[in-house]
Amino acid sequence: MISTSPSLNPVQIIVKKRDGGEHTREELRYFINGFVQDLIPDYQVAAWAMAVYFQGMTPPETTELTLAMAESGDMLDPHLGLPPGTVIVDKHSSGGVGDKTTLAVAPIVAACGLPVGKMSGRGLSYTGGTIDKLESIAGWSPELSEEQFRRQLREIGLVVASQTANLAPADKKLYALRDVTGTVPSLPLIASSIMSKKLAAGADAIVLDVKCGRGAFMETLEEAEKLARLMVAIGSRAGRLMTALITQMEQPLGRAVGNALEVKEAIATLHGQGPDDFQTLVEQVAGEMLWLGKRAGSSQGQGVAAPVGEGSTDLPEEFKNQVREAIRSGAAFRKFREFVAAQGGDVAMVDQPEKLPAAPLVVDVTAPRAGFVASIDAREVGLTVVDLGGGRHKKGDPIDHRVGVVVQAKVGDRVEAGQPLCQVHAGNQAGADMAVARLQAAYTLSDEPVPPLPVVYERIRG
Ligand code: URA
Repeated sequence: MISTSPSLNPVQIIVKKRDGGEHTREELRYFINGFVQDLIPDYQVAAWAMAVYFQGMTPPETTELTLAMAESGDMLDPHLGLPPGTVIVDKHSSGGVGDKTTLAVAPIVAACGLPVGKMSGRGLSYTGGTIDKLESIAGWSPELSEEQFRRQLREIGLVVASQTANLAPADKKLYALRDVTGTVPSLPLIASSIMSKKLAAGADAIVLDVKCGRGAFMETLEEAEKLARLMVAIGSRAGRLMTALITQMEQPLGRAVGNALEVKEAIATLHGQGPDDFQTLVEQVAGEMLWLGKRAGSSQGQGVAAPVGEGSTDLPEEFKNQVREAIRSGAAFRKFREFVAAQGGDVAMVDQPEKLPAAPLVVDVTAPRAGFVASIDAREVGLTVVDLGGGRHKKGDPIDHRVGVVVQAKVGDRVEAGQPLCQVHAGNQAGADMAVARLQAAYTLSDEPVPPLPVVYERIRG
């Protein structure tokens, strides 16, 4: 790529970040556009991402990077073809272990009358991705044309698609590269990745689920708050209504970790039979989306009381009640079924989840002694599932949808010696042996009672 400015050169840009410099808007646009157009190769972008990982970025620099990435492709308007005044609310998770929240939240919100048109991603490092999970359902496809996306949103009110080739293409390329170069857990790279997609997808309001803990990219509350505030600020600056929830990811969410197992658990949750922690999170995230949707639809927040300030997790009960009613009435499950059928999926697997792909070997991991579960290393559980074949080691690796882990004892539970802590679902004996040893080590038992972990730590409003 020819440039007349000395700093507009990939090597100079890498060196500047390596040495702790702050990029200009021009440098970021040059670098991101060059990457998208294949003029700057993967190895230079990987080196730069590693420099960002170590040196970080200032908030204005991160905002500029986000805008450069969002504007690297189409800026969509999902309202086209919908009745005037329709409000679109989106959600995004920063990534966790056993995080199947979208699978339950999206049909609930759509069943409550708020259209959900979502672009989702694949697994990243030890965290799973919504698209990989949904692909456990035979025939289900995330590849939709813009016309199909709009029609389905209009007719069913629920679409989950993979990022179209031209939606934030810079993120699509960078996300895949970070996944295999150890550069995922970087605050500016995560914030710009998430927010570039969200801004380009054109929703009016966005709920961010920022995971915090051992199984998240942000391990401490301080880091998670920083990430949440940065993303809320970027979204607010771009004119979107924003809420961020900081949620616990020390132990896996719910019980199932692994693609088909998580789909099964999401379906159970839509029938009102989900694990308690997952049910609580689903009510909070879906309720939050309904609340933001109402605010966005009522002339920029007039008429709907802002319920609480920062730091509180309270959401008016009426929104959680709507969520419970969508589940109780069966409307949310019917919406999920309709959505799966519309995207080519085999609804027999939704009606009878035992038809979903299942691993040939199911082995218990047992407690070596009696005690209370003090911790479960969610990252190790996620990495074990990746090594069982449920995630990728390199770009484009195939996924084994059958494998995973089902957590039976969660933090705070009392177990007796020999009682199952969790179950491994493996494709072969070697995988099962590897997973059993690692999962046993991922559990810590205590002689003293241990309180259960909270689900939501904090709520940050734009
Ligand atoms: N989710 C994203 O979309 N991007 C990240 O970088 C991490 C989680």
